[in-house]
Formats: sequence, structure tokens, C-alpha cells
Amino acid sequence: MRILTGIQPSGVLHLGNYFGAMLPAIELQQQGEAFYFIADYHSMTSLTDPARRREYTRDVALDFLACGLDPKRCIFWRQSDVPAVTELSWLLSTVTPMGLLERAHSYKDKMANLAEGDIEKVNHGLFAYPVLMAADILLFDSNVVPVGRDQKQHLEMTRDIAGKFNTLYGEVFVIPEPRIRESVAVVPGTDGRKMSKSYGNTIEIFTDEKSLKKKIMAIKTDSRLPAEPKPDADQNIAIQLLKLVAPAEVASDMENRLRAGGTGYGDVKKALLEHCWSYFAAARQRRAELAADPGYVESVLAEGAARAEAVASRVIARARSACGLGK
Ligand code: ADP
Ligand code: TRP
Repeated sequence: MRILTGIQPSGVLHLGNYFGAMLPAIELQQQGEAFYFIADYHSMTSLTDPARRREYTRDVALDFLACGLDPKRCIFWRQSDVPAVTELSWLLSTVTPMGLLERAHSYKDKMANLAEGDIEKVNHGLFAYPVLMAADILLFDSNVVPVGRDQKQHLEMTRDIAGKFNTLYGEVFVIPEPRIRESVAVVPGTDGRKMSKSYGNTIEIFTDEKSLKKKIMAIKTDSRLPAEPKPDADQNIAIQLLKLVAPAEVASDMENRLRAGGTGYGDVKKALLEHCWSYFAAARQRRAELAADPGYVESVLAEGAARAEAVASRVIARARSACGLGK
């Protein structure tokens, strides 16, 4: 079974990214042939600063490696190091109906939330984003694609595009399956909405202790006094986050104390700070070690690119030949 997923290099990693995307990907390394890449071509649809793209790409690579991605168990590369994906994206675009792309939630949301005069920011790359994503997946004969719920429609599009291509040109592509973990589908942010960079409600995993404390203390709570019982304790954001980073008995004990009364939100937040800090302690240490070796990340990505290229070149040759390109 070949498992493939892409990660956008879009800045500092938060608890939502970690529990929603990174941890499932790291765990899946054990279950098959894992192909993971950093989607730097995709980031061009929204980020136009070259230095930041390089910085974020390196950062996300370090984050993944520090959290347990093992380059011996998986192929880990930078998308743009295997440029055949852009060629495949073109082939696929010629079998992709405009209507399919016009129905994409991600594109429709961008259009709907556009500030006045911002239409220029909606580039063709953004519209064609799902085609490049289909190329990422199909170029490696992927069977399973672990993604968050927000990416489900992109996977359906990939399946449609692959089916269309196969009908026209013969059985060239493997049809992939999405793998969506409902249990960690949505990690709440400090204001109770989905944790997301675009809402400014994130808790970063590799931040210093002072900033972490500031973020955790700012988690939204109601004004009930410590003495009051809180029968809805399971709805408390700090409790929900504590369940992710603390041993189960610690989190359920805290939840019960909150429910019974006599425990304030400040106590829950203090416990969350402690457990959040210690949960990532080993990864933090490892990240510092890896970051101190300037050649390490590049050597992992270069080796990954060479291995990914070996697979990609066979698939692109198959696709080109099927549609009558070349001799
Ligand atoms: P953001 O919303 O902060 O911009 P991204 O859209 O870049 O995050 O998400 C990167 C990955 O992390 C995706 O696979 C996404 O499904 C996952 N993810 C992001 N936020 C959450 C969250 N709050 N809960 C669960 N998964 C999340
Ligand atoms: N669109 C995905 C996201 O924003 C990232 C991505 C790009 C991806 N190409 C992919 C995910 C291929 C899975 C497979 O999270």
C-alpha cells in the first residue's frame, strides 16, 4: 500500500496541524510505503515572498523530522525538486472540466471572502490548485491519501480526473482513496473556533515557554467562579486540549474536578501549560539538534527527491506514451 500526503509550507506549526495532520502521517509510516512532500509549488498561489518560502519549507521539514518522521521509513521531499508534477498537471488539466473546478469549496470561499479590489489576487494557480494536487497524487500511484476533512473534495476531484483520463487514454492511473480521521477532525483554537492561522487563535508547538503561557492563559472561558460546579466541563476548550497532550487519567481527573466545583479555569490552564510543554519537550530538543546541523535537512530532502524521481519518471513516461506524446 502506498500512502502519500502533501504539507503546505505555511508558517509556524500549531496544535491543530500537529494532531490533525502531522501525527496521523507519522503514525502511518508504519503501515505502508509512505511518500510525504512539502508542497512549495502550491504555496505560490498565496505566498509571493521567496525568502519566506525557503524559510517555511525548511521549518516544516525540521518540524516533521523533529516530531518523528523517519527518513529511513518514508520518502520525504520538496515538491518542486520533482518538476514532472507540473507536466502531469498540464496533461490532467486537459481532461478537467471547468465546471468541476468552479465548484471547488476552497476557490468559492476565496471568491466569497474577497475584499473589494482584491480580484487581482485570485490567480489562475489558485483556480487550478486541485489539478496540481491530483498530479501530486497520481504521479506516485498512490493508494491512500491521509488528509483533513477540508481536503475531502480535492480527493474526490482527483478520483474524477483520474477516471476521466483512464477512460480516454487507457488504464494509466491508480484511483486513490482518502483517509480521514474523524476523531481529530477539528482541534479547537483559543477562541473555540477551529484552530487556524487565519483566525489568529493558534497555540504553536515549538514556541518559548513565555509565549506558550500567554496563549494558554488567553483561552476563552466564561465568568463562573471556581467554587461553582460546571456540568458542561467537557465543552471547556482547555479540557479538550488537555485531553490531547496529557495522559487520559490526568485529563479526566481535571474534567471531573471542574464538573464538581471548587476548581477554577486557571487550574485547568496551568495543567494544560505543564503538559503541553512536556509533551513536546523531546521533539523540541531534537529540533534544536537538527537545526544546528545546517546540511541535515537538505541532505534528507535531496535523497528523498532522488527516490521520488525514480517513481515519478516511470509514471510520467506511462502517461505521456498513453496520450501520444513523444515518439
Ligand atoms: P491553517 O488552518 O492553520 O491555515 P492549514 O490549512 O495549513 O492550517 O492545515 C494544514 C493541515 O493541518 C491540514 O491537513 C489540516 O487539515 C490540518 N489542520 C489545520 N487546522 C486543524 C485543526 N484545527 N484541527 C485538525 N486539523 C487541522
Ligand atoms: N492541499 C493540501 C493542504 O492544503 C496540501 C496538498 C498538496 C496535498 N498536494 C497534496 C495533500 C496531495 C495530499 C495530497 O493541506
